[in-house]
Amino acid sequence: MAPTINKKNKKCIIVIMASGVTVLLVLALIIGINLAKEPDKKELKLVHIIFRHGIRTPADTYPTDPHVNDTLYPVGWGQLTNEGKMEMYELGKFLRQRYDNFLGDFYHPNEFYSQSTGVDRTKASVQLVNVGIWPPKTKQIWGPLNWQPIPVHSELLSQDMLLLVRKPCAAYHKERDKVVASETVQKKFQENQALFNYLTQHTGRLVENFDDVQDIFSTLKAEMDYNLTLPSWTNECYPDKMLEATVFSYTLNAWNDKMNRLKGGVLLNKIINDWKSKVNERDLEHPQKAFLYGGHDSTIVNFMRTLKVWDTQFPNYGVTVLLEFSILDGEYGLEVYLRNSTSVPPFKLNIPGCNDFCPLTKLLEVTRNVVPINWEEECENDGSYEVPEPGGP
Ligand SMILES: *[C@@H]1O[C@H](CO)[C@@H](O)[C@H](O)[C@H]1NC(C)=O
Ligand SMILES: *[C@@H]1O[C@H](CO)[C@@H](O)[C@H](O)[C@H]1NC(C)=O
Ligand SMILES: *[C@@H]1O[C@H](CO)[C@@H](O)[C@H](O)[C@H]1NC(C)=O
Repeated sequence: MAPTINKKNKKCIIVIMASGVTVLLVLALIIGINLAKEPDKKELKLVHIIFRHGIRTPADTYPTDPHVNDTLYPVGWGQLTNEGKMEMYELGKFLRQRYDNFLGDFYHPNEFYSQSTGVDRTKASVQLVNVGIWPPKTKQIWGPLNWQPIPVHSELLSQDMLLLVRKPCAAYHKERDKVVASETVQKKFQENQALFNYLTQHTGRLVENFDDVQDIFSTLKAEMDYNLTLPSWTNECYPDKMLEATVFSYTLNAWNDKMNRLKGGVLLNKIINDWKSKVNERDLEHPQKAFLYGGHDSTIVNFMRTLKVWDTQFPNYGVTVLLEFSILDGEYGLEVYLRNSTSVPPFKLNIPGCNDFCPLTKLLEVTRNVVPINWEEECENDGSYEVPEPGGP
């Protein structure tokens, strides 16, 4: 039986309903205001991670090296050491922690892409970082190991057009020659001539420029990290004097916009295109979330100097750049972090001409000069200039 409602009760119900609606409206208003006032919500959309491989055995030697005949068995030359393996695995775990929610539980090939240079120690490093990022969970557990295979892409070293840019480029070297001939850099050469001479005398090879010093520095550092004894002549110059010259060698190879445009600018261009694609992306089921790039000391310095965020320092093993592209208040933009220590959080860096959240539009403006438009053409490979053999990595 339906309850009968008399006129008075009806009026009462209407009043109650009306006040209920009012309360709801007021509540909605308060919530609305609060939503509007809530601190700007930033949503991560895409991250690029660029890092240098882990601690390795020496990749090179010199004629008088007491370890010149070592086989370094069973590790081999220029390969990751056990410490280096652990370092890379730990880097992966750090990344898992930092991007846990964003990456989600499952590796999916559309969402995550990893690439190494065509060098063993870097390929091994990328694999290990992947182990730390992607321990299999539930549906992806396949067998006895807490590990799943993650594909690692790479380019042939001689054809590298991303992380090392090893394809010959005359314009880059012509510009570098000009820089070397400049007064500022010639003065540096003079200041270091005694060091070059000293190294030439003791290493049994000609040391005449900063890259030569870097080469020997890297060998000594790797030998020392591997607990091999260094000859006593090194006490005089290793690490301090050699470190300074080595750090300068990286700077010299990424000196100005013109040089950076043809080296680090290649990777920057690729990443800018990823950001643009992200802005134009529409409702994909598995959108791209992260790119992981394993490279070398020069990969890091060249890229960071191209973005003008490199505080001159030695690019040690495992140094990692985090490019976090997110949407804030409806605007897409970038934040840059450098992880150069495992004991402190990554440093946040500011791109000159930009705030610490650098909107994409602004970013395109400030990087215009360092992004190649037609790399092949700009490189002037017309055969009139003999491009030197690449050193390293
Ligand atoms: C390395 O091997 C060469 C050839 O056998 C030998 O002449 C040289 O003395 C060795 N060097 C060292 C440091 O053992
Ligand atoms: C070098 O020596 C240190 C200190 O004894 C040790 O912790 C490290 O594992 C050694 N490294 C190698 C590669 O043997
Ligand atoms: C690490 O990077 C930050 C930011 O560029 C810099 O200030 C700091 O000196 C670096 N630390 C080392 C040990 O080089």
